[in-house]
Amino acid sequence: MQTKRIFLDQKDLPRRWYNIQADLPTPLDPPLNPATGKPVGPQDLERVFPMSLIEQEVSQERFIDIPEGVLEKLLLYRPSPLARATALEKVLGTPARIYYKDESVSPAGSHKPNTAIPQAYYNKAFGIKKLTTETGAGQWGSALSLAGALYGLEVKVYMVRVSYEQKPYRRLMMQTWGGKCVPSPSRETQVGRAILEKDPDCPGSLGIAISEAIEEAVTTPDTRYSLGSLLNHVILHQTIIGLEAQKQLEIAGEKADVVIGCVGGGSNFAGLTFPFVRDKIFGKELRVVASEPAACPTLTRAPFAYDFGDTAQMTPLLPMHSLGHSFVPPSIHAGGLRYHGVAPLISRLVLDGLVEPKSYHQLKTYEAGILWARTEGTIPAPETCHAIAAAVEEAKQAREEGKEKVILFNFSGHGLLDLTGYDSYLSNSLTDYSLPEEEIQKALEELAAYPKPGQ
Ligand SMILES: Cc1ncc(COP(=O)(O)O)c(C=O)c1O
Repeated sequence: MQTKRIFLDQKDLPRRWYNIQADLPTPLDPPLNPATGKPVGPQDLERVFPMSLIEQEVSQERFIDIPEGVLEKLLLYRPSPLARATALEKVLGTPARIYYKDESVSPAGSHKPNTAIPQAYYNKAFGIKKLTTETGAGQWGSALSLAGALYGLEVKVYMVRVSYEQKPYRRLMMQTWGGKCVPSPSRETQVGRAILEKDPDCPGSLGIAISEAIEEAVTTPDTRYSLGSLLNHVILHQTIIGLEAQKQLEIAGEKADVVIGCVGGGSNFAGLTFPFVRDKIFGKELRVVASEPAACPTLTRAPFAYDFGDTAQMTPLLPMHSLGHSFVPPSIHAGGLRYHGVAPLISRLVLDGLVEPKSYHQLKTYEAGILWARTEGTIPAPETCHAIAAAVEEAKQAREEGKEKVILFNFSGHGLLDLTGYDSYLSNSLTDYSLPEEEIQKALEELAAYPKPGQ
């Protein structure tokens, strides 16, 4: 009998996160203060984040210890299993071996608690009472609500309106864990009210929800903002995924040839792949593939530029591939991939040729998700379907070339609360959407006014 799932003992949980900043071939351009055009200092961020997280954001240390108080909570669901998709391999008739890291086993159903837990821990230790945040699909909002409950912090979540309407059960998860969830744009902030005045039916976007959450954090005592993706410290926390996967592949006696993740802001992709990118930087031969939606194609089509992380221009300017901070992505079902920008660290690695970006239309991703459900059994989140589509493509290519290869991808979350998208697909009402070239031109015009990062 062939082993299907490879488990790590709880005592083998990694004790340190990996910080790729120590190994980047080209260092990151610094975030800029939009008012001065100068790099931001820690004091510019201290109303937004606790100092311990600001330190992690800029740290150049290769490994950072995970505090005991974080490890203890991660043990609720970690280490997560590494599994082999043998049934999928069989229907595809591929000589490739497909492995996936199953992040859907967390209480919130995705990889998001890997950073929600340390972020809540550090805020609590800093004396903070309340966290505000945004959420797309609701995965991040529920993860932070869970973490708030574990450490006794109040949590307020601005949820992108279209997802709020499509996914009522995620709101109920947040409420069950004690979080408060409102649809964004909301009437609770100046930013939200201004947007609703212009466009009462605005479907919302992650950029708008971030602006609302930051506004509330900086205007409320003992409150800080928490971001679910994009930033260096978030990615740092997520590297536990790839560090575990490396140990598990070693147990399986395998070596990954291609490592894949879907990309919204980039945290699950980076979490799995960065320890492998490190190997690549130091000479190992492997490919690293980032899979994004064709409807919101940041890495494959957007310019690399300085841009704001949010719609209302409250964040520093970040060097990243961006469709422009005022871009409202089309209402595709993968709510967590509807973001105008992408992590600066991933942007940098794409420019340096260490990460290969690819884009997929949503019909193709659902097709892959359905194939997965009918072979491997679990129902993937619509975001995760993007990684599966890329893995299936790699496996088919291996078949065509008659080549054995080891494919590893991140199963970032389950889709049990995302069945509306499956309903649209199964009833043939789902359509594809390609971003028109005019949108890219609009982004170029919007970004022309800002300083230019080095290429
Ligand atoms: C299951 C799942 N996968 C992927 C993502 C994309 O986010 P990121 O790119 O930060 O991993 C999300 C975001 O909500 C998600 O819920």
